[in-house]
Amino acid sequence: MENLIEKSSNIIDVGCGDGKNSLYLAEHGFKSIDAFDLSENAVNKLRRLSISRQLTINTWVGDLCNFKFTKKYGLIMAFGILHFISKSDWYNFIINAKCATAIGGINIIQLLTDKIPPSIDIAPYAIGLAADGEIRECTKTSSFVK
Ligand SMILES: C[S@@+](CC[C@H](N)C(=O)[O-])C[C@H]1O[C@@H](n2cnc3c(N)ncnc32)[C@H](O)[C@@H]1O
Repeated sequence: MENLIEKSSNIIDVGCGDGKNSLYLAEHGFKSIDAFDLSENAVNKLRRLSISRQLTINTWVGDLCNFKFTKKYGLIMAFGILHFISKSDWYNFIINAKCATAIGGINIIQLLTDKIPPSIDIAPYAIGLAADGEIRECTKTSSFVK
């Protein structure tokens, strides 16, 4: 995947957790990586790891539901996060992410669907499970009405 993106591209890792994806990309020469997560502990861990590995990742604690894109990105990643926010919030995120994607850029989105029940530890928080194929449909629309 890293071969598909210019090393100079802006990258954002939304709901980065402790940042394994951001760290991987930084270790592969990407220089402009933004990463945020709701969890201060997770972001602090990513900061510690990036400092110890002498990698530069711009991190902050933030809520995706309030996030606004301020620049164009060559890669927008949202791994394992969107099912934790409401469906209307993740639809809006996807629409905004499309607008914030640079020409030739990539969005990588992974979320749980309702095809298989979520494990009991995350079930209470999994408020935005997608229906099968729903992301594909959502990406075809240019706007979303709640
Ligand atoms: C399963 S982890 C995935 C972490 C990372 N993306 C990865 O692939 O390793 C889900 C992450 O989403 C974060 N998260 C949940 N709701 C969020 C929100 N509203 N805004 C930002 N991050 C959120 C959690 O704190 C958690 O770190």
